[in-house]
Amino acid sequence: MIPSDTIDKIMDATRIDEVVGEFVSLKKRGVNLIGLCPFHNEKTPSFNVSVPKGIYKCFGCGKGGNAVNFLMEHEHYTYPEALRYLAQKYSIDIVEEKPSPKQQEAIDEKESLFNLSAFAQKYFEEQLLQTEEGKSVGLSYLKERGFSLEIIKKFGIGYCPDKWDNFSQNALKNGYKKEYLVKTSLSKSKDQLLYDTFRGRITFPIHNLSGRVLGFGARIMTSDKKRPKYINSAESDIYHKSKVLYGIFFAKSAIASNDNCYLVEGYTDVISMHQAGITNVIATSGTALSIEQIKLIRRYTANVTLLFDGDPAGIKAAFRSTDMILEEGMNVRIVLFPEGEDPDSYATKYRPAEVREFIESQAVDFISFKTGLLLDEAQDDPIKKAKLIREMAQTISLIPEPITRSLFVKKCSNMMEVEENMLVTEVSRLRRQRVIQKKQSPGASESRDLPLPQTTTGQQQKPDEHDNNDVSEKELIRLLLNYGSLDMVFKVENEDKRMEDIQVKVVDFIVRDIQEDKLVFDNPDCQAIFNIFEEAWQDQQLPNEKVFTEHASPSIQKLSIDLQTNQYNLSSNWEHRHKIYVLTEEENLKPAVLHAVYDFKLKKLEKMIKKTQEAIKEKERNNQNETDGPPIRELLQTMNDLDLKRKQFAGELQRVVTR
Ligand code: CTP
Ligand code: MN
Repeated sequence: MIPSDTIDKIMDATRIDEVVGEFVSLKKRGVNLIGLCPFHNEKTPSFNVSVPKGIYKCFGCGKGGNAVNFLMEHEHYTYPEALRYLAQKYSIDIVEEKPSPKQQEAIDEKESLFNLSAFAQKYFEEQLLQTEEGKSVGLSYLKERGFSLEIIKKFGIGYCPDKWDNFSQNALKNGYKKEYLVKTSLSKSKDQLLYDTFRGRITFPIHNLSGRVLGFGARIMTSDKKRPKYINSAESDIYHKSKVLYGIFFAKSAIASNDNCYLVEGYTDVISMHQAGITNVIATSGTALSIEQIKLIRRYTANVTLLFDGDPAGIKAAFRSTDMILEEGMNVRIVLFPEGEDPDSYATKYRPAEVREFIESQAVDFISFKTGLLLDEAQDDPIKKAKLIREMAQTISLIPEPITRSLFVKKCSNMMEVEENMLVTEVSRLRRQRVIQKKQSPGASESRDLPLPQTTTGQQQKPDEHDNNDVSEKELIRLLLNYGSLDMVFKVENEDKRMEDIQVKVVDFIVRDIQEDKLVFDNPDCQAIFNIFEEAWQDQQLPNEKVFTEHASPSIQKLSIDLQTNQYNLSSNWEHRHKIYVLTEEENLKPAVLHAVYDFKLKKLEKMIKKTQEAIKEKERNNQNETDGPPIRELLQTMNDLDLKRKQFAGELQRVVTR
């Protein structure tokens, strides 16, 4: 554990240009540095680095963050790994905090499980490659299946002798505790005796991201239908099935550099594909794909290609995985192998170039996949066809990104010969339904707020109120972040009835104004940033920029960075909307701030008005039942007041705009 003051020390020493500069060649452009973005392909540089702010931002792909984020994104480091990298770069000693005895015990126990697993892997490998039994039974089987010695060694494949307890006794002799042998499920204990779980089987070690062995899959070498083909390690403190992907250690850099990940079903599929030179392959190992596994893939790429058997089980698994991957905002393509083939058999039968060619020519998106599979039987049956369309709409509605969603709507409408508008409506309905369900189910995750439906045709729906509101909230925060310390000049009448210039800081003006009306932000990240400003303002200070760009919440980090980079310039906001052309934003700060404040308040007022209107309607429906809630007279009065205020703000807004 790295102590927090050491983290501060590291962050203080870190210079973003020096860190990024090791991976990207940067040139000076104004106050910033600019280069070709390492996260997407581009010919003209849109990757910006700001030394004073300590952040980078790509205007092409939108990636941005501080030095730690850069290392996590570019080098796929975890947070502590990135900090260690920086500590080393800037020669800062990390004196780790001593864990409590209880923590130490857990660390020691995990370490023991890891050590034992590593021992087992070595033992099994030796048995396979160096013993008579291993060679004649195990190695000959693998060779017959077409695995080369090189690939066998790369994946650390082994063999567990077909004896009662050879391995267990050996492990005990080498000082490994019985307790851990059972906990890793390498041994089973019966009547005080240990016996080897994987005896008589080929062992495939399962590695974590950094290459340590967590567990094993072990295959029988006969076609005995009565015994399970594979026996796998049970869950343990180091092995969690749903968090591991088989082969990730060997595939991760190829996944990142190909910007695509092939997902297969089994151990042997991964290994054969590697042998064919296709190395961006990993497997779920017979379990259903989990969200954690998808997130693991997303550390390296947003593109997944599912390579599945064409049998009904494979197809069902492909449908399910597709929905989950799309819902995570990633892209998915699907390849079904011909009847009776899987990636392993295909890669063994054909040459590497043919395998590649097959995958790339067969990969289709989920619309084509479903259509291709089901349209034939549904074509002449309207009921079946309608069901198919509804299912597709359901899948499309899971996609978080509106543009992607609308592209699939178009594609689906073309392929299924159904009107685009109808599909748009159905997809919107499904999304709304999900938003409502999410709100109603208590404790529902708030980690992703589903944007409300948008359409390509635009006709069916009114512009989204929530989004407008969000824009005005972000605009206020943007001004605070960028110009909080600057002065605006106001003309006021002094005690002698003379006009006088007074200077007000942007932060004073905004914070006071919002406090006065006790307004709150709907966007929790905006509210959090505002609170930090408010607190600092009470001490007549401005918060340090790093408070935001290094905030513990990644979404606050991202928002503050987005809002501090010129992409969110006024030119794309109100300046354009109102056809006002100015030299620089700073020169026009006052109207910009006034506009933002009035706009923000107006949105809040409109919301209150809507609520009051609804309350009035509700009252009228209940026959003016005066017993609960404020009487209708009062509501009407509130309504009047709000409306007056609204007119006033709208007027001020107009004046700012047309000044
Ligand atoms: N699996 C399992 N237990 C079984 C059968 C399968 O855990 N009894 C898992 C294994 O991870 C296996 C994957 O499901 O790799 C896919 O199963 P399958 O296609 O039957 O096995 P293959 O990996 O193709 O093995 P082989 O080619 O040797 O038959
Ligand atoms: Mn197979």
